[in-house]
Amino acid sequence: MSLRKAGIDDINSIVKIEKISHEKPYWNESLLIYLFNNSMTDSVWIFEFKKKIIGFLIEQRCLNEISILNVAVDKKYQNKGFGKKMVSQYLNILPNNTVVFLEVNINNFVAQKIYTSLNFERVGLRKRYYNNGADALLMRFTKNSF
Ligand SMILES: CC(C)(COP(=O)(O)OP(=O)(O)OC[C@H]1O[C@@H](n2cnc3c(N)ncnc32)[C@H](O)[C@@H]1OP(=O)(O)O)[C@@H](O)C(=O)NCCC(=O)NCCS
Repeated sequence: MSLRKAGIDDINSIVKIEKISHEKPYWNESLLIYLFNNSMTDSVWIFEFKKKIIGFLIEQRCLNEISILNVAVDKKYQNKGFGKKMVSQYLNILPNNTVVFLEVNINNFVAQKIYTSLNFERVGLRKRYYNNGADALLMRFTKNSF
């Protein structure tokens, strides 16, 4: 499995995966066009397996602090270990002393399992964070120690 930065030509694949992997998709074509053309902080990372795009991760980076805004694996490839490999491979390429934050739905046990197994710690709870009223756990990963 390989990891690369996405470009504007990847938008269709990203939107397709977003639509089929999330109950309520958020990232659409216009948001991604805006991201690729204007954002100084946000990037999309693409994961390929046998030359096929099977997942992506969206980050927002400010100096040594990153927020992961989205992680998604194509439905056909879920529950095969790709999600964990994707996040692990992404964390591996980050510079030392990077701190990564993310919010995860309190009911999303699969995603939480991945993050916990990769040494993310729970550092907060955001009440009613999602539109359906579900809470989010705030999790933090520190690459090496300061
Ligand atoms: C969350 C997501 C990225 C996980 O990707 P994935 O490739 O399916 O996950 P993996 O196959 O690496 O599985 C991770 C762990 O969860 C377990 N798991 C995966 N799917 C499961 C399921 N349906 N039921 C129970 N356990 C499951 C796996 O066994 C594995 O545990 P292990 O490491 O102890 O073996 C993927 O399900 C997805 O895209 N979901 C929709 C978007 C989303 O929720 N993103 C997270 C935003 S924070």
